[in-house]
Amino acid sequence: MGQESAKKAAAKGAAKLIESKMIVGLGSGSTAAFFIEALAHRAQTENLQIKAAVASSRRSAELGERLGLPIQDLNDICRVDLTVDGADEIDPEKRLIKGRGGAHVREKILAAASSEMIVIADETKLVDRLGVGVLPVEIVGFGAPATRMKVEDLGYKCAWRQNPDGSLYLSDNGNLLLDLSFEAPLSHPEAVQEELIHLPGVVDTGFFFQLAGRILIGYPNGSFEVR
Ligand code: A5P
Repeated sequence: MGQESAKKAAAKGAAKLIESKMIVGLGSGSTAAFFIEALAHRAQTENLQIKAAVASSRRSAELGERLGLPIQDLNDICRVDLTVDGADEIDPEKRLIKGRGGAHVREKILAAASSEMIVIADETKLVDRLGVGVLPVEIVGFGAPATRMKVEDLGYKCAWRQNPDGSLYLSDNGNLLLDLSFEAPLSHPEAVQEELIHLPGVVDTGFFFQLAGRILIGYPNGSFEVR
């Protein structure tokens, strides 16, 4: 309950930063869902005129549409004013790990197309070093076992993401997700990105470097701070 209130506090804080005529990027995950709700609430009650909302996942697009936001496809829009998204891990240099919801590739494209990516989270997401939990990596289905072997040859432990019924989880792009785990948090996450991104079959990892702008950390009492 406390964590949920903290996520809502950050989400509401971010919704207040949206101005009329903006094109807004919608992230994915539970915190981003609270933002979509808070944004729709402002649009309904304060006559906030959002020009368009661009979603990073089908789930977020469906939620936004259901709540009356003017959803548009990123294929029809090249520049987004503000994207608001959650994160799984945030380090002191504003480097992130994302993708526990399986949408990090679209989230990264959306963040890169935005003038600013605002990150919303509760304080459990703050880490000293990235790599405390898993690093999601999106992998093309063709030759996936061979790609996984290349990842393991680099010394990483990994597992395919699965649905509750045991079938393989597929991203909105139709690709597989390989969750990498590390023996210890990472001193040089950029070096890990560099190794992985050059493997044929790897679409992208859940590392987000130099993409996060303001970070809003919410607290269970409903307050939030901006970093
Ligand atoms: C979705 O793919 C993710 O990048 C989410 O933004 C991230 O997992 C945070 O999710 P929660 O807000 O649900 O913790």
